[in-house]
Order: sequence, then C-alpha cells, then structure tokens
Amino acid sequence: MDFLTSCYHQLAALYPRVRELDLRQDRPRTTGTVLAEELRQRGQAVLEDRARVLPRPRSIIFNLTMQCCLRCRFCNLWRLQFPHMEPAFWHRAIDELYALSGPYQLCLSGGEPLLVPYLEELIAHASSLGIETAVPTNGFLLDAERIQRLQAAGLRSLKLSIDALGPLHDHLRRKEGLFDKVLEAIGALRGHNPSMQVGVLTVFMGPNLSHLVPLVEWVSQEEALGFIEFQALTQTYADPPDTSWYRTSELWPSDPAAVEVLIDQLLALQAAGAPIGNRPFQLQFFKYYFRNPNQFVYHDCMIGNFHLTVRNDGEVSSCFNQGLMGNLRENSLAELWEGARASLQRLKMETCRVSCGFPVNCYFAENARYVFPSSED
Ligand SMILES: C[S@@+](CC[C@H](N)C(=O)[O-])C[C@H]1O[C@@H](n2cnc3c(N)ncnc32)[C@H](O)[C@@H]1O
Ligand code: SF4
Ligand code: SF4
Repeated sequence: MDFLTSCYHQLAALYPRVRELDLRQDRPRTTGTVLAEELRQRGQAVLEDRARVLPRPRSIIFNLTMQCCLRCRFCNLWRLQFPHMEPAFWHRAIDELYALSGPYQLCLSGGEPLLVPYLEELIAHASSLGIETAVPTNGFLLDAERIQRLQAAGLRSLKLSIDALGPLHDHLRRKEGLFDKVLEAIGALRGHNPSMQVGVLTVFMGPNLSHLVPLVEWVSQEEALGFIEFQALTQTYADPPDTSWYRTSELWPSDPAAVEVLIDQLLALQAAGAPIGNRPFQLQFFKYYFRNPNQFVYHDCMIGNFHLTVRNDGEVSSCFNQGLMGNLRENSLAELWEGARASLQRLKMETCRVSCGFPVNCYFAENARYVFPSSED
C-alpha cells in the first residue's frame, strides 16, 4: 500500500465522508508534493464538512473541584488531586460555550461544589446569559445564608443527595450526623423562591432498596422538595474501568427480581402523581441495567454529540474514559470541540466497550433519543 493510500484509509476510518472522495480513481501520476497537497485539501474539506454537521455541546458539566468533605462508599473522586483553576478560567469557559452553543444547561459539580467560594459568582454570570444552572450537593455545608446566596445568584436547580432516611444515609456516606444536617438545610429551604427548583438525588443500590418507597413518600410530602431523581449505582467514581466491578461490590443489589418489583412500585407511585423525575422508560431500563450493568457495552453511547465536561485542571472531554480533547488553557473551546482529537473521541465513544453509568444516569434521556429513537415517553 503506498503512502497516499494508507493516509486515505486512516482518514476514511476517522471521517466517514472521506469514503465519498475516491483518491484511488484514475489520475495522472503527479509528484508527491502535488498529491500531498491534494490530500491536505480534501482532508480539510472533510473536516470543514464534519464541523458543519457537528451538533453543538448543550449539556455541560464543570467539575469545579475534586475535593470533598465526605468519603462516600461509592465515590473516590476526592482522590483526584488536580490543581485548581482561577475564577477567570471558568468565566471564560462559560462565555466560550455561550458563543459556541447559545444558552445551554450547566451543571456545576465536583467533588463538592459548595466548597468552591466563587460558586455563586459563576452561577450569576451564567444566569445573566440565560444559561440554566444546576448544583448537586451532599448538603453538609448548606445553611440558610448559603441558600440565600445561591438563590440570589439565580440558581435554577439545587439537588440534594439523599440515599436513605436516617442512619443508613450516614453509613453510606461515612459521615455521622449528615442526615440530620441535611434535614436542617431542608427546613431552611421551606418557603424558598420557586424560581429555584429543589429536589433530591438518590443512588439506587442494594443496601437502600427498602428505603426508596418511603423516600419518595417523604419527598412528596415535604414542602421544600419538588422532585426526586434516581441514579443507578455505577462503578465507584475515579476507579480504573473494570467491566466486572459489580460482581464484588457490596453495594450492588444481589436480587434483580426484587429490583424489578421495586421499580414497578416506583412506576405506580409516579403514575399516581409522585414527583419522580426519571422518565418511566429510564426506570424500566434500570431493570435491564441491574441484570447486567454493561448495557452500554452493547448499546451505542452517543454522549459525544452533546456533552462536555471541563475538569478543574482545564482538561476537556466528552468522556474521560475515552481520552481528552485537549486543555482549555491552551485552546479555545470551539477548537477543542471541532478538533481532530474530539472527532476521534466521538468515534471511540460510539463503539465503547467500557462499563459506565453515564448514559444510564446523567444523560439517559438525551442518549436514548439517539440509541432508541422510539423511546420518547
Ligand atoms: C459526584 S457527586 C458531586 C456532587 C456532590 N458531592 C454530591 O454528592 O451530591 C454527583 C452525584 O453522583 C452520585 N454518585 C457518586 N458516586 C456514584 C456512583 N458510584 N454511582 C451512582 N451515583 C453516584 C452522588 O450521589 C451525587 O448525587
Ligand atoms: S458522592 Fe459527592 S459527597 Fe460523596 S464523596 Fe463523591 S463528591 Fe463527595
Ligand atoms: S458509555 Fe459513553 S460515557 Fe461511558 S465510558 Fe463509554 S463512551 Fe464513555
């Protein structure tokens, strides 16, 4: 295979539209330089074409810090010690994303985002551009004064992580007194301005199965809370990817039949008006997931078409398991999103063989739209 043909094959693997450009057709044998220029021009045309049809990122996560005041049994993010960015870095990221995508959804997360002193400053900046912000938090640092600041900054959605009622929550999150602390914060949230939605995020796992129906009933009755969203347990965050992780996890539900009965109960509660935020199709999908969490080893992951995470060391990616697009300190967001490394990452994501809960939890609805086009419910 000559050099040009091998370049053609490499490009064709990266960019499907190259297949329409047949470099092997009869052409006069010109010099290597002219052929290289021809290839460069055609490659450039393909890149430009791909950039034209490329969707814009619209669901963004900023991992503002990896530090955390807790050491939950299912999360090791706090082990990732990255250097912190200055507030100016995040302001620029907000602006560049706005220039690229217009208003988008921004989740300001971590680690524990309430540890970040300039959190409200970023929320206010994003809100002034019409960007919808969400903050998930373990609630340990939340008090009346912080609630007031978050609300004044224009926060759209505050999500309190609560996995069980009472001491089991403290046990799962390895923090004595945490549940009572979160209850106090919920007390302070009563009567908050309805422009800020407040709800609960709950990890669906083995030890808390018997708590989930009471949790839904409690959220339904608590005036400060408007919704509860379930997230299926995934491999411990920040651990090296391993498709057999669940076989030895003490948090994995051991009886899939019991999970299915529970999911049917949750679906019935939802149909009767309980404020469960997950789509019914997602809860049904959890049944498959808890029989085999490697679902996205078999189904496509299309998250690379709409999602970006910016990490607190400046690295940008649609999926850190599939590499990096580059660093925002060195390139603009548009360059990273439209660049060759991003294209390669998207292709790798579509054929991903990693076991991951991202498309089952955070981006279920968006991913399902691509993978199961008839799944709207
Ligand atoms: C990484 S935390 C960051 C925000 C904050 N520290 C908190 O706990 O809410 C975001 C969400 O991920 C959830 N989470 C962490 N590890 C998980 C796992 N292994 N499986 C499913 N959800 C997990 C947390 O419960 C939380 O609701
Ligand atoms: S889940 Fe949240 S609170 Fe728990 S260790 Fe991870 S970042 Fe911290
Ligand atoms: S399923 Fe998607 S988000 Fe998860 S590791 Fe694979 S490509 Fe990444």
